[in-house]
Amino acid sequence: MSRYWSDLVNQLTPYVPGEQPQGDRLIKLNTNESPYQPSPAVLTAIAAVSGDSLRLYPDPESTALKRAFAQRNGLLPEQVFIGNGSDEVLAHVFQALLKHDQPVCFPDISYSFYPVWCELYGISHRDVPVANDFTIDPTAYPTDNGGIIIPNPNAPTGVLMGLDVIRSLLRASCDSVVVIDEAYIDFGGESAVQLIDQFDNLLVVQTLSKSRALAGLRVGVAMGSVELIEGLERVKNSFNSYPLDIVAQRAALASLADEEYFQQSCQRVVASREFVCRELTTMGFDVLPSAANFVFASHSRRAARGLFAELRERGIIVRYFDKPRIDNYLRISIGTEAQCDALLLALRALLKLKR
Ligand SMILES: Cc1ncc(COP(=O)(O)O)c(C=O)c1O
Repeated sequence: MSRYWSDLVNQLTPYVPGEQPQGDRLIKLNTNESPYQPSPAVLTAIAAVSGDSLRLYPDPESTALKRAFAQRNGLLPEQVFIGNGSDEVLAHVFQALLKHDQPVCFPDISYSFYPVWCELYGISHRDVPVANDFTIDPTAYPTDNGGIIIPNPNAPTGVLMGLDVIRSLLRASCDSVVVIDEAYIDFGGESAVQLIDQFDNLLVVQTLSKSRALAGLRVGVAMGSVELIEGLERVKNSFNSYPLDIVAQRAALASLADEEYFQQSCQRVVASREFVCRELTTMGFDVLPSAANFVFASHSRRAARGLFAELRERGIIVRYFDKPRIDNYLRISIGTEAQCDALLLALRALLKLKR
């Protein structure tokens, strides 16, 4: 609290990101980053940025990048919005498209930044319970809403929602914007981008932070009808005209151009995820079916909070959420094969299992 702060700032409860330990030799499985490096083409593009191009402001519209996303997704460049990480894109989405008289709806278990943006922008929200198996029930969403936002696959559960569910949400809420946050879609889901032509109230948000191993670069994207994108541009150009620096624009472009590397690293993560799911299940964990680059698991004999702390003592950081319905689950990001092996070995020791 400070008398120099606005009333709003005095009341805010900011989002707390997962720990980013500095300099420790820890196995970091807590923030769903890629365990692999980005495409070598990205590093070449970064090295090729000249001093002269750094002297100038970057292209405020990220034109080349918009074109590349548009081409990849069968859209017009005017249907693409680019921001400094999908967190920034989502913040603009809340302000531009989800601030209305009715509350915005999102699952009771979902990305914990959503309620923070609601508080920041003065948006009321309604938490819609996920089913007992953590799936999304489209009929649970009221049709008179100020908008709907759902991560798909959901975070932190990893549970995937099919396009049929998304279609019913879009049809039932045709007067409000339905946002599908596809931060993890490349690890096994079908993107809703293909529905954009049929539904002008659909906005799909993606990131280069996870499947393209560029969390450190901060590039996010939204795709939707020209009308929705124009709304986002209006907020962006009233906030920061240059959200993406020249390095990020060039590197993101290089990443999009290397489809083969992208596919290979996604497949590697998916193979490790399936292995980890199988092994955890044999250890007595209940593992939710995951279409993401993390798993969400609970153990009948051992409390998640204790396991989280004991893994930390052994140099392995995973994520624990002290929240209703999920306080006995661990969210574990998929690491390299060696990191996954180390995790499984540590858990076997903590559970006093042989092998
Ligand atoms: C569901 C979801 N959406 C969005 C983001 C933000 O990603 P970024 O800002 O790195 O693009 C995250 C990050 O963990 C996430 O889990």
